[in-house]
Amino acid sequence: MLYSLARPLLFSLAPERVHELTLSMLKSAHKLGAMRQAVASKPVTCMGIEFPNPVGLAAGLDKNGAYIDALAGLGFGFIEIGTITPKPQEGNPHPRLFRIPQAKAIINRMGFNNDGVDKLVENVKAAKFKGILGINIGKNATTPVEDAVSDYLICLEKVYHYASYITVNISSPNTKNLRSLQSGHALTELLETLKKRQLELAEELQHYVPLVLKVAPDLDTTDIEFIASQLLQFKIDGLIVTNTTLSREGVEGLPFGDEAGGLSGAPVFEKSTACLAAFSKLLQGKIPLIGVGGILSGEHAVAKQQAGASLVQIYSGMIYTGPTLIKDCVNAMT
Ligand SMILES: Cc1cc2nc3c(=O)[nH]c(=O)nc-3n(C[C@H](O)[C@H](O)[C@H](O)COP(=O)(O)O)c2cc1C
Repeated sequence: MLYSLARPLLFSLAPERVHELTLSMLKSAHKLGAMRQAVASKPVTCMGIEFPNPVGLAAGLDKNGAYIDALAGLGFGFIEIGTITPKPQEGNPHPRLFRIPQAKAIINRMGFNNDGVDKLVENVKAAKFKGILGINIGKNATTPVEDAVSDYLICLEKVYHYASYITVNISSPNTKNLRSLQSGHALTELLETLKKRQLELAEELQHYVPLVLKVAPDLDTTDIEFIASQLLQFKIDGLIVTNTTLSREGVEGLPFGDEAGGLSGAPVFEKSTACLAAFSKLLQGKIPLIGVGGILSGEHAVAKQQAGASLVQIYSGMIYTGPTLIKDCVNAMT
């Protein structure tokens, strides 16, 4: 209700300004105890973790983990922070975030703007949150893609102790050549190296933290089959399907529809859900799937479940519908 009243005002401002404003208002409201949403308990066990409900916040909204407690108050079953990189970086030049309300869509080319992994760890330590926290890791823009593995390793080691699960993001379209890590020897090398280090850390710390891969919706059948085979070979713990798309289907001719970057929200739903169903068919329940992309209603969340997802995540839908979307999804899901 409050969100639908505030939305016209918020939508009259520049999108990135609104993003910052909304998060800082949410933080202040949370401190005053004014921003809490009661959500039904609907526990799901996945990757050996018990989630209080299957609806999570997708990566990118809280890149530095600076708003964890406030976001947790909205009733998410889990929160994914990041993408974080080893060193702080500014991301791409402004403007880099575009709303397309006619299509309930967003285009972003943020480019992993973040304060670096050390700051994220500080923020996580300072948070009171005791729920399920995913930490999404990536590489710096200045690191050549051939050396990407070393950036992921740095992040993996630094966040391991603080994460409920760790997401390896190789699917952002806004870091040059990042998506090339989704295929061939580059993927094999990345997964093999990260799996080895994960097992060493689990042994050292006597604590196993699941490793999850996040993929793009713009994959063909050959890509999907290869990724699925690699996930099984290296015993990766989970798969997030999907990130934003490079397609412009659904926003052609609309204001900002031809901006460069990744498209999210309603137009990505079908593509992302088809990708999810394709992975589900190949993986046969051997690796849990997290469905994300275009969820704007409880029915959409149910469709992700029917396509094989054990958990779902939302981002753009929150911008258009507000936090009641979390509740709607939890209530609709089985
Ligand atoms: C502004 C913005 C920034 C994002 N940043 C990240 C990110 O840093 N890392 C990541 O893995 N995904 C990122 N995403 C992708 C989302 O996590 C999600 O996969 C995608 O938007 C599809 O879901 P949606 O349609 O519910 O938004 C971002 C999305 C948006 C809209």
